[in-house]
Amino acid sequence: MGSSKSLNALLAFVLFTGCAAAADVPDAFLIQHPQGRESISLDGEWRVIPDPYENGYYNHRYEPKPDGYFLARKHTDPTQLIEYDFRRSQVLEVPGDWNSQDERYFFYEGTMWYFKSFEVEPRRDRRYLLHFGGINYIADVWLNGEFLGRHEGGFTPFQFEAGNALQDGENVIVVKVDNRRERDQVPTVNTDWWNYGGITRSVRLIDVPRNHVADYRIGLSATGAIEGWIRVSGNPDKTPVALSFPGLSVDAQLPVNDDGLARFSFDVDAQRWSPTSPVLHDVRVRFGEDTIDDRIGFRTIAVRGEDILLNGEPVFLKGISLHEEALSRPGRAWSYDDARELLQQALELGCNFVRLAHYPHNENMLRAADEMGLMVWSEIPVYWTIDFDSAAVFGKARQQLDEMVARDANRASIILWSIANETPQGSARLRFLDDLASHARRLDPSRLITAALDTQTADRFQRIIEDPLADTIDVIGINSYCGWYSDAPEDCARIRWVSGYGKPIIMSEMGAGALQGRHGDAAHRWTEEYQAQVYRQNLAMIDNIDALRGLSPWILKDFRSPRRPLPGIQDFWNRKGLLSETGKRKKAWRVLHDYYK
Ligand code: GCU
Repeated sequence: MGSSKSLNALLAFVLFTGCAAAADVPDAFLIQHPQGRESISLDGEWRVIPDPYENGYYNHRYEPKPDGYFLARKHTDPTQLIEYDFRRSQVLEVPGDWNSQDERYFFYEGTMWYFKSFEVEPRRDRRYLLHFGGINYIADVWLNGEFLGRHEGGFTPFQFEAGNALQDGENVIVVKVDNRRERDQVPTVNTDWWNYGGITRSVRLIDVPRNHVADYRIGLSATGAIEGWIRVSGNPDKTPVALSFPGLSVDAQLPVNDDGLARFSFDVDAQRWSPTSPVLHDVRVRFGEDTIDDRIGFRTIAVRGEDILLNGEPVFLKGISLHEEALSRPGRAWSYDDARELLQQALELGCNFVRLAHYPHNENMLRAADEMGLMVWSEIPVYWTIDFDSAAVFGKARQQLDEMVARDANRASIILWSIANETPQGSARLRFLDDLASHARRLDPSRLITAALDTQTADRFQRIIEDPLADTIDVIGINSYCGWYSDAPEDCARIRWVSGYGKPIIMSEMGAGALQGRHGDAAHRWTEEYQAQVYRQNLAMIDNIDALRGLSPWILKDFRSPRRPLPGIQDFWNRKGLLSETGKRKKAWRVLHDYYK
């Protein structure tokens, strides 16, 4: 290795480890570990009203109505004129996208009103947080007719204080969900995945003591110390917060500063987390009457030159990409069982790594990855032609990054935060992504930053990686479809790759389409034989990429896309899965499996 490279490597290593303790502590806008809290589940049957003209919100002059559907008015006497009735409207399951629950909504993009009534006797000494795991794409939330707030972004959690609006006995939640695509959103109007709308993840009314643990960050410093912080909410008498790791004989009382923050660092030797040994340590945080139990894995991740180091040792990421679609039924995955079913497929393929594309998946996926020993690439949907000139759009991307990191920073399985996929080069895009990368490093200096880049073709048998963003990120992702969108499959093995960045490279996408069960000449598109040939040729090619340290071929399972209408072959499925939409293996599955084994 040349001297400049080794100096770079040393610098990168020092830089990476040096800033591990300098994490910004975010405001507690999201309660940590909602599943570990006392709560009333609001999952189950909700009443819905499809409202493509937003008649439930605007009058005929297109002005907001004071008596919109959000009042959820009851029909009490025959003299009233009320032209909606939630209590007699259609039932849909929550969590769940509407597209896969009723074929009339398969392509539906617009407003859907959701209604749920529930009983509670609120206590004065508790605080009540209405917590949503995710709603695609804009959610307006009312409780008993009072507007609690709006959230934009389809794949990250959010919560509202319910306290003052809660009443004894029956309570009514109304949510206006709007999944119309707009140019100034994240993602923007064009994506190669289905625009599943709805309350697609769990809903809980979380109740916590007035003085409670709001958030915490627990990890391993590069020097092997267990370190982090705990943020409490309410603490009039400066009670310390107790942090214990029963299995590690750690039981500490930590002083809380005026900002409600307790920092800690313990020099204990905790068994490390890794795919071959996904050890999770029990942790208990106690504060006043509040007690939270969680399970945390300890590992370090770093870059040294062109190597990725897991717990100080070079690692090769044998991965596969996934969209958040269930295997056992159509539509969005959201449950713990869905997560285990999908990740079990990755394990059977021989993976130690998954790329959760192209947006933050539900929290169950990350908790299951912790338990099952799969390293994770987690991504915000800064995808393709985002409006990089807009400060508002940057704010939306940054908000989704904040929410993704706030929710998942305690998950050892996540080693990479990805800030973009196939974004077109340009000065506005570079500024946007450089700022996003800096923000990600402030939020979480302990992980690697990556992005999936388009690659350039120098000539028939040479590819170059030339993107100023490659200077910013720690690990370079490259999407390349040799044998599908370009070149003949048999050319791929001869292609050489040039990268002047001296950084690890992950082949974040490669692949081809095939209809499961369609067989024929390997030269014929859509046959399993063609797809298998593309895989064989690309797997031969990646041996020519000196800095390659991982791959996550596109994709585990066929998935819904509005961009894939080919009758009899696609029928609005993207057919690049190694599995059909019902989980049947294609020949290429065996090619990748044998490569990993
Ligand atoms: C792109 C993109 C994916 C898309 C895939 C395809 O690289 O990142 O989201 O589904 O290629 O064309 O199938």
